[in-house]
Amino acid sequence: MRFISMNTIFKRIPAKVTAALIVITLFLSCNHEKEITFCENIAPIIFKNCTSCHRPGSDAPFDLVSYQDIKRRAKLIKEVTANRFMPPFPADPSYSHFTDEKVLTEADIKMIASWVENHCPFGDSAKLPKPPAFPIGSQLGTPDLVLKMIEPHRIKGDNKDQFFLMKIPYNIPNDTFIRAIEFVPGTAKTVHHVNGQLISYEDAKKRSVFTGKYTINTDSFTHKQGFELMDIPNDDGTYPLLTPSVTNYLPGTIATVYPEGIGGYSMAKKGAILLSEIHYGPSPINREDISSCNIFFAAKKPLRPTLEMQLGTLGISKIIPPLVIPPNVIKTFHTSTFITRDISVLTVNPHMHLLGKKFIAFALTPSRDTIPLIRINNWDFRWQYFYTFRKMIKIPAGSLIYAEGTYDNTANNPLNPFHPPQTVAEKEGSMRVTDEMFQFIITYLPYQIGDETISLESPNIFH
Ligand code: HEC
Repeated sequence: MRFISMNTIFKRIPAKVTAALIVITLFLSCNHEKEITFCENIAPIIFKNCTSCHRPGSDAPFDLVSYQDIKRRAKLIKEVTANRFMPPFPADPSYSHFTDEKVLTEADIKMIASWVENHCPFGDSAKLPKPPAFPIGSQLGTPDLVLKMIEPHRIKGDNKDQFFLMKIPYNIPNDTFIRAIEFVPGTAKTVHHVNGQLISYEDAKKRSVFTGKYTINTDSFTHKQGFELMDIPNDDGTYPLLTPSVTNYLPGTIATVYPEGIGGYSMAKKGAILLSEIHYGPSPINREDISSCNIFFAAKKPLRPTLEMQLGTLGISKIIPPLVIPPNVIKTFHTSTFITRDISVLTVNPHMHLLGKKFIAFALTPSRDTIPLIRINNWDFRWQYFYTFRKMIKIPAGSLIYAEGTYDNTANNPLNPFHPPQTVAEKEGSMRVTDEMFQFIITYLPYQIGDETISLESPNIFH
């Protein structure tokens, strides 16, 4: 066999033809690897996955809206997307799926990296999509009633996380029904997360809802002490009706509103919104916050009000073994409960504090199928979402709901509040971040045929 070198081939081809071939090859390769530009490729990724938090008036440290904003942080953006630090979404998308899942695809991550390596070309402005709009005041529409904190809350500029129990009492003319409550941070740059409950008083049982303290530092008191100092009980010392998880807030989230006919609450004419936890992130300067709650009324009594099941700390099921984590160990705990009727699960919320590392929850059916609920491989204390399934998950009667949490109380855990590590435990519902909790909260309905086909995907907007 004879080998012909490339040189020989080129020598045999006339120079003009060679030049033409090179041009064609260049043209083909350009066309093949189309340049990645901000306008066409990067802006859509950033607007969809980053801008809900990185915008004026939200708690992220800088905006990611304009080309300049994004170009200025390009290297860091490449890094935090490659290691999946951003967007923050701890649930493992290979286990279960939720609405508003903030997860970049491998293709998105590669695209960002190539764009940054190629010095961030801008591209054709005609192809640039409009940045998403975030209405001020409400993301849902025009509220029927706005309840504001009675007095401004002063946040110390000591660069520390701060946690409070707060109440926003109210009187309205009549008992009514509501469809949704939307928490609106007053000082979005510091409010980091909120879980809210609704307290409803029977008229005759409470003279005034405006007595007691409005704010309690959760580092200093247990739930029970806090409730007493806030004068939450009725005048005779009994407890009023408390509807849990009526509103939740984390930066970048939209208040949960289930489809028409699902969810909703009764609202008594005397009551309070109890922010059973409001977490302010570290602030370098003193600030004042007046946050509020937008209330959206419902025309009629909720058809299918949601129910809540709480496993673990303060809940219906025991933690095994008891939640005590000795120093210098990594330890796993579980909790479980049997359900006695078919249910449809809408939303789940795993909860642990600073030592949390991993979390998994699933249901085991009587026919030994596993229904995955949620898995978190790298627990992130700062991002404790209420995760809503895209469609309701049916769990049949007789199933076991099982949750397991792993805690790292070694010096290797950068969030360990104690140096050297100390025994950390659950203490009678202590809310202190340096104590631990292990909770799994499930929002559900008694199952009805067809529930698994109802989409929970897009919130209904009130206009
Ligand atoms: C849910 C809100 C939220 C979303 C969505 C979000 N971020 Fe962030 N981002 C934050 C917050 C808050 C911080 C401050 C650090 C922290 O609290 O973890 C931050 C920090 C950062 C930082 C600084 C990291 C450092 O080491 O200083 C970069 C860069 C960043 N985000 C880029 C992005 C990009 C790119 C996206 C989209 C792909 C994104 N973020 C999506 C809230 C968000």
